Amino acid sequence: MAIDTSCDETALSLFDEHDYFTGKRVADCLVSEVVSSQVDLHAEYGGVVPELAAREHLVNFPHLLGALLKPINGDIEAISSVAVTRGPGLNGCLLVGLCFGKGLALGARIPLVLLNHIEGHLFGAMFSADFNAFEYPALALIVSGGHTLLVNVKGFRQYEIIAQTRDDAAGEAFDKCASLIGLGYPGGPKLSKLAQSGDATKYRLPIGLNKDNTSFSFSGLKTAVYRLVQDLDSEVENEQVKADVCASVENAIVVALIEKTKAGLNAVGAKQLFLCGGVAANATLRKELKNLAEEFSCRLIFPPIKYCTDNASMMGALALEILKQDKDGYESIRNMMRNGVYRGTKFREDAAGAKPRFPLTEVSN
Ligand code: KG4
Ligand code: ZN
Repeated sequence: MAIDTSCDETALSLFDEHDYFTGKRVADCLVSEVVSSQVDLHAEYGGVVPELAAREHLVNFPHLLGALLKPINGDIEAISSVAVTRGPGLNGCLLVGLCFGKGLALGARIPLVLLNHIEGHLFGAMFSADFNAFEYPALALIVSGGHTLLVNVKGFRQYEIIAQTRDDAAGEAFDKCASLIGLGYPGGPKLSKLAQSGDATKYRLPIGLNKDNTSFSFSGLKTAVYRLVQDLDSEVENEQVKADVCASVENAIVVALIEKTKAGLNAVGAKQLFLCGGVAANATLRKELKNLAEEFSCRLIFPPIKYCTDNASMMGALALEILKQDKDGYESIRNMMRNGVYRGTKFREDAAGAKPRFPLTEVSN
């Protein structure tokens, strides 16, 4: 069972690990998955309220667990291991999932695997029909509401950060600009939809830090959009004007991401290019990155839309791969746990807390 409660989605997934260990694709090992979105709860505040989100996870867990276990007739004892997101994310939210996972693992005497949410986003790409295996080095652009990272994936769980944001994340930039344009929360998907009928050359907006290939920055864009909306005044209500502003914003964000990815490809010589995280759902970004990947003769791989935004199946994919790579150790520890004779700490990190800040470079092997 995999659990993710890093932000405002309560997500649980169930896999058949035996199928995965015997060579099936991860998508074919998925038994069930549930994601409960809290968008409506937070919409009236214009953003996620951490305390409310944490409480909502608590309320959600019992009925989501019931739904998750339906295909196995509620047989919680059939679960052989639990994987939980430890960070990064909102502390209170992470704690709810972590305590639930720890409780289940301790009670059922089964192994516990603690995971990094960003790494999970990368492994969400395993659900792509284009994915067969990781080929190193690979380059990963991980763009979500909380993170904007360009990563050199040197090997299994070996990461080198090539560029990251100095201020807002790409998804945050989409959402904040959308809010300034009057599209509500979370406006990223709405902005990108409107952008499709707009002219991206209509308004000149700043492309963040276009001379520094180790950083992204989107706060200047936000300020420029604020001024533009002020200048346009009531004109921004005009559908075409609104679409043109959206297209110009989308273009500024996409160009910044593409330019730095291009520099990354030049530096790394990647065999594969991964695009992951909520913003990977953006059609323009996908199209532009596909062209870029072709230019560099490497393959672009991105998850199906539902595995771009937060979910627990991507975390499960990561956990299954971790367990598979250490199959003998995992199975012997699981047997010792079942017999009540295990005294080690591997797969049983009782004292581990949530890690709201959890750099990708700190995941352990
Ligand atoms: O990965 P995710 O679900 O949550 C975090 O871990 O942050 O990403 C959510 C982010 C939001 O900022 C949302 O506006 C953005 O992904 N997003 C999009 C699109 N769909 C979701 N941004 C641009 N275009 C989209 N189509
Ligand atoms: Zn996420």
